[in-house]
Amino acid sequence: MKLFLDTADLEEIRTVARWGVLDGVTTNPTLYAKVGGSYEEILQEVCRITPGPVSAEVVADDIDGMLSEGRAFAKLAPNIVVKVPMSETGLEAISRFADEGIKTNCTLIFTANQGLLAAKAGASLLSPFIGRLDDINQDGMEVIRELVGIVEMHDLDSEVLAASIRHPRHVTDAALAGCHVATLPFKVMQQMVQHPLTEKGIKTFREDWEKARAIIAKTGDKAKAAETVTPR
Ligand code: G3P
Repeated sequence: MKLFLDTADLEEIRTVARWGVLDGVTTNPTLYAKVGGSYEEILQEVCRITPGPVSAEVVADDIDGMLSEGRAFAKLAPNIVVKVPMSETGLEAISRFADEGIKTNCTLIFTANQGLLAAKAGASLLSPFIGRLDDINQDGMEVIRELVGIVEMHDLDSEVLAASIRHPRHVTDAALAGCHVATLPFKVMQQMVQHPLTEKGIKTFREDWEKARAIIAKTGDKAKAAETVTPR
């Protein structure tokens, strides 16, 4: 499964790129509002950091506005994907972008049927928002399972992207459901790295190493060094 970062924060993107696990980036107007500056310049820099797909979202609600914003985004870099909200106008825009060879990510998907429509219109990425469904006591992961099943069963030329991820369990469940991509806030990416037993183990290994080295350097007594090993 591909892992994208869901952020417009360049430092977060650079950090995860250095880890070697960054497959792409998604942004939206809210994430952009958190960092400010020029959206175009941020997008160009993100596209320099990662060769993977970088989603840039249109805000117009009419077809001409969506097309004009999306075409301008697509000119910024070859890996830009135009993010278009699910709606009747959004579907038309996705279809027009597909005719022009511009890739799209259909966002704000909350049902498998919406995802099916977006795939048929030509969206390369389908973004169900699982956290926001969970927030209103619906099962977000069920939409992922249904949509992945539909895409696979009918051999649709789209990938399902689990969005609105709230915690690491969402990532595991999406992966087990065969979801093609998940886009994660930086915090969730960090939470995936962490485990208290990992941290405890690293600390213990370092302490045992240092104690043993000190004893061997001082006395040369390997048996005495072994006695200092921390019990598990
Ligand atoms: O990028 C869209 C999506 O991931 C937003 O998530 O946390 O605002 O529901 P959230």
